[in-house]
Amino acid sequence: MQNLTIFPTKDAFIAGAAEFMAAQAAEALAARGRWTVALAGGGTPQPIYTRLAEAGYARRIDWPRVHLFFCDERCVPPDDSRSNYRMAREALLDHVALPPENVHRIAGEADPALAALAYEQEIRRLFRSVALPAFDLICLGLGDNGHTASLFPGTASLREQARWIVPQYVEVMESWRVTMTAPLINAARHVTFFVEGAGKAEMLQRVLHGPFDPDVLPAQMIQPVNGQLHWLVDAAAGGDR
Ligand code: 6PG
Repeated sequence: MQNLTIFPTKDAFIAGAAEFMAAQAAEALAARGRWTVALAGGGTPQPIYTRLAEAGYARRIDWPRVHLFFCDERCVPPDDSRSNYRMAREALLDHVALPPENVHRIAGEADPALAALAYEQEIRRLFRSVALPAFDLICLGLGDNGHTASLFPGTASLREQARWIVPQYVEVMESWRVTMTAPLINAARHVTFFVEGAGKAEMLQRVLHGPFDPDVLPAQMIQPVNGQLHWLVDAAAGGDR
């Protein structure tokens, strides 16, 4: 099942995305007593996380029962300006009552292969599962080349079926990333893309309505098996320019 919501302005998009996350948290906490959420990196979600940290949204979430993960990480130390963890920490984690032990970050400073293995083990530990776990919510962005998380066009990580987390050297970025794989993302209860700005409009149309070509458009691989897929976009990205 796929839901597309187009917000009229960038600010409505930011507020709508924060509202969506708060509502998802409330639903999971009521149903299962905890909320397991994986955050997207990149620039688009930063103002959403900032908004979520504001009292009006934050007070609706029982933070000690939240477990927060990351979809992907750039292989840099956690205080590097490119770190997805640092972005989330500054925008959200520093401002809410989330216990540090509930923040599960990818070790961007470590060897990428070891960091991927360790992160997979951390997920297994938390979910107490050898089978693919279902995160309550996985948040994703859309790259203007069709990538999502760090699943980049033409890379080996796209063909990974067994591993939940893999290291990936990304030629176009000339750097290593560690990323969730499509099977793990597709096992989630809810997956949402946050897409903003006219620069994403053409790619969004191709991903949603173009021919299925996941090796070129990895975002097309995201199709939750039993969960729901949400697209939250602003009007500029949604084509209403
Ligand atoms: C990252 C991401 C990546 C991102 C897209 C969109 O670490 O960069 O997780 O998948 O979501 O590249 O990024 P923007 O929101 O900055 O356009």
